Amino acid sequence: EKGGYDYFMLKEIAEQPKAVADTLLGRIDASGSLTLDEVRIPASVLREVDKVVIVACGTAYHAGMIAKLAIEHWTRIPCETELASEFRYRDPILDQRTLVVAISQSGETMDTLMALRHAREQGARVLAICNTNGSTIPRESDAVLYTHAGPEVAVASTKAFLTQLVACYLVALYLGQVRGTKWGDEIEAVVRELSDIAAAVDTVLETMEPVRELARSLADKNTVLFLGRHVGYPVALEGALKLKELAYMHAEGFAAGELKHGPIALIEKDLPVVVVVPSPRGRSVLHDKIVSNIQEIRARGARTIVIAEEGDEAVVPYADHLIRIPATPTLLQPLVATVPLQVFACELATARGNEVDQPRNLAKSVTVE
Ligand code: F6R
Repeated sequence: EKGGYDYFMLKEIAEQPKAVADTLLGRIDASGSLTLDEVRIPASVLREVDKVVIVACGTAYHAGMIAKLAIEHWTRIPCETELASEFRYRDPILDQRTLVVAISQSGETMDTLMALRHAREQGARVLAICNTNGSTIPRESDAVLYTHAGPEVAVASTKAFLTQLVACYLVALYLGQVRGTKWGDEIEAVVRELSDIAAAVDTVLETMEPVRELARSLADKNTVLFLGRHVGYPVALEGALKLKELAYMHAEGFAAGELKHGPIALIEKDLPVVVVVPSPRGRSVLHDKIVSNIQEIRARGARTIVIAEEGDEAVVPYADHLIRIPATPTLLQPLVATVPLQVFACELATARGNEVDQPRNLAKSVTVE
């Protein structure tokens, strides 16, 4: 049942190109238009939406953080992403013009369910992004966009995360399409690139041996830090979460711009720091700022593990370890940048003798609040 892999997690990491392709299947037509018929919220209602609120937990929350950037960039609708467990306890502002997006692999996460119930009570429309057919969250939502990752057995979410991202991009682009906002060359190019993204994920998977080797060499470390900016920040948080839950190591993700506001005090000799570098094309300002961050932490002794786009030469002098990912449009980079972090955490867990598919204290679906 593990298809020749030692762990479900390894199998599920390997299934990501297919999961991504399956989630796109039939949702973009030949002309590059999105055909999300399952989003049964009428276009007239979607055109009136004046705020999007995303609620989710854990890894799904990280997908939601990335979705916020995509939705605001492509639609110009204000969007916020909130931890489902916090949401209903702060009396959030919601009405008929609010679109709430609830992201959940299992469809049974109690925190997310309670958040969406609260949202519907206030009159908001709820769109679920879910991987489990007929589960509670989609049943209680106004509409659902299913991710087609297939069953995810390992407790640590991998392929579900990538497909959640794909679904979030589709929702963002669809909102843009329905509302006619910024539906220009950039969006057409992104839709085209999305069609190629499964192949890019495959390319990353083929080059993971050095990442495994690196992970094994760090098995006796206590702490690993992760830095990123823009979409790379949630990727950093996701890398840290995977390491906590699988390797039981202290791991933290930071927005790289925050380093100087405190976390840089943590940097000491030989501390491994993973840095997710934005594309030098696109938002080149951010790229250059991150390169300076890498220089700063390296000057203080950090062991820099740099995830950077193919062809980005500026990082080479400051990378103790360089992990290459294919070039993608800025907003899509998490689809390729997350994969090495999954492999890294899985291999570190193995090296430390941990149970990869069933980490201690965790359950696959969290049905209590
Ligand atoms: C981390 C992980 C959890 C889940 C979270 C939400 O690897 O799996 O953080 O992402 O419990 O679960 P779902 O998506 O089922 O609502």
